[in-house]
Amino acid sequence: MVDPSPASFFTQTNALLRKNLTFQKRNVKTNILLILFPLILSVLLISLQSLVNHQLTQPESKCGCVCRDNSTTCNDSDKLCGVQYSDQTQMAACAIPQPHEWPPLFQLPPVYCKENVSCAFNMLFTSDNQSFAQNVSDNMFPIESYPDDIDIMASLPSNVLGSDAMPGANNFLEPAFTSDRPIFYLQTQCPRYNFGYSFPYQIPGNASEKEVRCGQVINFWRNSSSDIDTELYKGNQRGKSEGRINDIVSAFDFLNSNEDGLNVTVWYNSTRKVGLLRIPRSVNLISNAYLKFLLGPDTKMLFEFVKEIPKPETPIRLEVASLLSGLFFTWVVLLLFPVILTSLVYEKQQKLRIMMKMHGLGDGPYWMISYGYFLALSVIYILCFVTFGSVFGLKFFTLNDYSIQFIFYFIYINLQISMAFLLSSFYSNVKTATVSSYIGVFGTGLLGSQFFQHFIQVSSFAREWIICMELYPGFALYRGLYEFAESATNGSNSGTNGMRWQDLSDSANGMKEVLIIMSSEWVVVLCVSYYIDQVLSTGSGKSPLFFLKGFQKKPLSSLKKLAIQRQGSEVLAQMEKEDVIQEREKVEQLLLEPTNDHAIVCDDLKKFYPGRDGNPGKFAVKELFLAVPRGECFGMLGPNGAGKTSFISMMIGLTKPTSGAAYVQGLDVRTHMDRIYTSMGVCPQHDLLWESLTGREHLLFYGRLKNLKGSVLTHAVEESLKSLNLFYGGVADKQCGKYSGGMKRRLSVAISLIGDPKVVYMDEPSTGLDPASRKCLWNVIKLAKQDRAIILTTHSMEEADALCDRLGIFVDGSLQCVGYPKELKGRYGGTYVFAMTTSSDHEKDVENMVQRLTPNANKIYHLSGTQKFELPKEEIKMANVFRAIEAAKRNFTVFAWGLSDTTLEDVFIKVAREAQAFDTLT
Ligand SMILES: *[C@@H]1O[C@H](CO)[C@@H](O)[C@H](O)[C@H]1NC(C)=O
Ligand SMILES: *[C@@H]1O[C@H](CO)[C@@H](O)[C@H](O)[C@H]1NC(C)=O
Ligand SMILES: *[C@@H]1O[C@H](CO)[C@@H](O)[C@H](O)[C@H]1NC(C)=O
Ligand SMILES: *[C@@H]1O[C@H](CO)[C@@H](O)[C@H](O)[C@H]1NC(C)=O
Repeated sequence: MVDPSPASFFTQTNALLRKNLTFQKRNVKTNILLILFPLILSVLLISLQSLVNHQLTQPESKCGCVCRDNSTTCNDSDKLCGVQYSDQTQMAACAIPQPHEWPPLFQLPPVYCKENVSCAFNMLFTSDNQSFAQNVSDNMFPIESYPDDIDIMASLPSNVLGSDAMPGANNFLEPAFTSDRPIFYLQTQCPRYNFGYSFPYQIPGNASEKEVRCGQVINFWRNSSSDIDTELYKGNQRGKSEGRINDIVSAFDFLNSNEDGLNVTVWYNSTRKVGLLRIPRSVNLISNAYLKFLLGPDTKMLFEFVKEIPKPETPIRLEVASLLSGLFFTWVVLLLFPVILTSLVYEKQQKLRIMMKMHGLGDGPYWMISYGYFLALSVIYILCFVTFGSVFGLKFFTLNDYSIQFIFYFIYINLQISMAFLLSSFYSNVKTATVSSYIGVFGTGLLGSQFFQHFIQVSSFAREWIICMELYPGFALYRGLYEFAESATNGSNSGTNGMRWQDLSDSANGMKEVLIIMSSEWVVVLCVSYYIDQVLSTGSGKSPLFFLKGFQKKPLSSLKKLAIQRQGSEVLAQMEKEDVIQEREKVEQLLLEPTNDHAIVCDDLKKFYPGRDGNPGKFAVKELFLAVPRGECFGMLGPNGAGKTSFISMMIGLTKPTSGAAYVQGLDVRTHMDRIYTSMGVCPQHDLLWESLTGREHLLFYGRLKNLKGSVLTHAVEESLKSLNLFYGGVADKQCGKYSGGMKRRLSVAISLIGDPKVVYMDEPSTGLDPASRKCLWNVIKLAKQDRAIILTTHSMEEADALCDRLGIFVDGSLQCVGYPKELKGRYGGTYVFAMTTSSDHEKDVENMVQRLTPNANKIYHLSGTQKFELPKEEIKMANVFRAIEAAKRNFTVFAWGLSDTTLEDVFIKVAREAQAFDTLT
């Protein structure tokens, strides 16, 4: 009825896929939330954008207007709009068809001279020919100049006007005239007291009174241009350190100029934001002075005005998405990483992966399905992200070529999944993984925006270093998103498209490098993580060079092996036990003439844990010989720490034996674990179940892994549920998280038995069960052992008695005895145990009485009146004992007494004690 061949790759994949789908269906809320996350973010962005847009349509953000009739409210048609009615921010939005003409100004350093006193400024000059330079520079400033009352505007260009107001970024409005700083009429003579004029000046929109002061400029000759440098430098220094005012307005070097040609250097102060806007006035002054020197004082070369180029209306736009994109979208995309990592580490922490492996799930299907699942999740997530963003019209998405976006995100999510696989090998705890990955996500975003973006923008920063930083996937992602944002912003501002494929060849566009880096990393990381998984993960336990299998040497050097063997045989010689020797002979016989009826054969199995932190090394299992035929339930008893779990771990492939071999169904556990898994069932000590799957789904999954199909599968699952009392009352379809401890235990046993495994290991299957459930469990195991070998560990002697055909008592890593329960009782229990409780005065009487019964009695327990003796069976007659007690009762008060045959428990305690006593002797 049951297909004996192991499940194919396809069957395993199918089983895992179905299980995962069910699992995800249970987690549907989380999944939907996750996928809706981009929607929520998009809505948030859109709300923010519309808020910003709304703000930008307010009058405060548009070109300023006033009503024609000076009233406060009026129709749009009655409004006068323009730069003259705007403040600095509004001005940027205005259309300026006819920019205002401003008189050219000479830049002055900050002026602090007193209100009613005229101010003096120094000018430095040098030249190859001092007399020539003196002549020219004397012509630069008029001797006396006053505002012309008749036509001020016309007179301005022929005077030299100076201002210490900061020039703006553009010249639509000249701050010297719009601010309250005075205008200086620069000349070589000033009245002692300030002339304190003011003149009406027509600036756009309104006339303003402009305060005018006199500024005296004095020329000083210096011997060389380096003297000037020194002086300016010191002046600046002094100004800074002593809080004194720097009064040098300008400096000129006439070089080799003479009547035949003018060659001049002009010093200017660019510490002021846009000092360059005022340089033309200096140059004009020199040229004018030179012409006057050549052609006479009446020659004039006027600098009439400066004026900006007209500009159209430019509404202020603010693309929130592109502005935020770097940091914000990096976080959105990276957010999947903790989700994937946590999910992988969860299966590892809960040992679910190894559990699946022990029931025959290969690494191939596991990787394929997990990878496929995360890829599907990521793709849907990113699709939602891009779709919602596009639907809401975020330029970040709509302007850039969708094929570039698709390729970029696709490569990145693959890289991200591979990274999660890689890192999951190093985490064993979900909490650590969650916390550290979220820190990683936030850290990457912040470092990207605060630190990495800075380097991208500074063009002098070496490109090679940027590429180095992009090797970190988080920065590569940041760079890609940054490029998208840049392209979208540029496209949006210039009204063209964002990034197109041909833009990738542009060397300033980092997208090409990012794509190359990410796709090569994807391949490398995927290979490395598969390799590390194979080496590190428990269960496969491959050596780091597993792919060189053919060339490998034996894992243990022969010398070391010899040493271990010798050490082993010494111990062996000292404490050979009859039945253990027999078992050993049986194993040797079986190895010589292999038969089919022994499912498990262990040949001199050893497990050595090397010493750590100064503790000596320890043999957890030593020279274990064991043969378990099919149809037998072998019970393994032993005190805690005796090595039972180490033994089982070796048998189920969690650890490798240090030496020796074990064969399951004729297959070596050291080399063919993958094939053994297909016919093996394990009920681990701690239940390894998915909280959100039901019992039935567990059994269906493991049944499929064991290659059960169709009606056979349904039938097997049904049977299994019924036999373990999990069928009725809807238990089978309840999620395991809601099961009681006993139900989980029974489900674990059901899982270990499904699919007719040939070998089953049960580690304390009945712990935590109530007596009724235990009885039911025993029946199932009894039924199950008929055609398979079961190795069972337990601490309940009752259970061992009821279930096991043979028992082995395991102490300090080796079997102390092997045999049928009756046999053991007979061998180790050649005594009765006699107990009597009296008052402590009569202890001696009791002892005498026992001595009379048999001189070979042995006191094993003594505590305030209660004594226990071992009486050899062959020297005792029941009738004599009863008679002696009757006699004793007449002499003194007997509170209680008892006589019992040896139980398995006594055997166990005796064997354990003997072994330990032997240990302390050696
Ligand atoms: C210096 O310039 C004056 C004119 O200002 C000229 O007469 C004189 O020859 C020049 N001296 C030299 C050495 O070139
Ligand atoms: C400039 O040179 C003249 C003569 O060559 C000299 O007397 C004067 O001290 C110099 N001035 C300075 C500041 O070095
Ligand atoms: C102007 O002066 C500089 C520096 O002394 C000199 O190199 C250059 O040849 C001069 N130009 C003319 C046209 O004399
Ligand atoms: C240059 O401009 C700065 C800023 O206005 C000012 O503090 C400094 O004194 C100026 N230096 C000179 C030499 O004028």
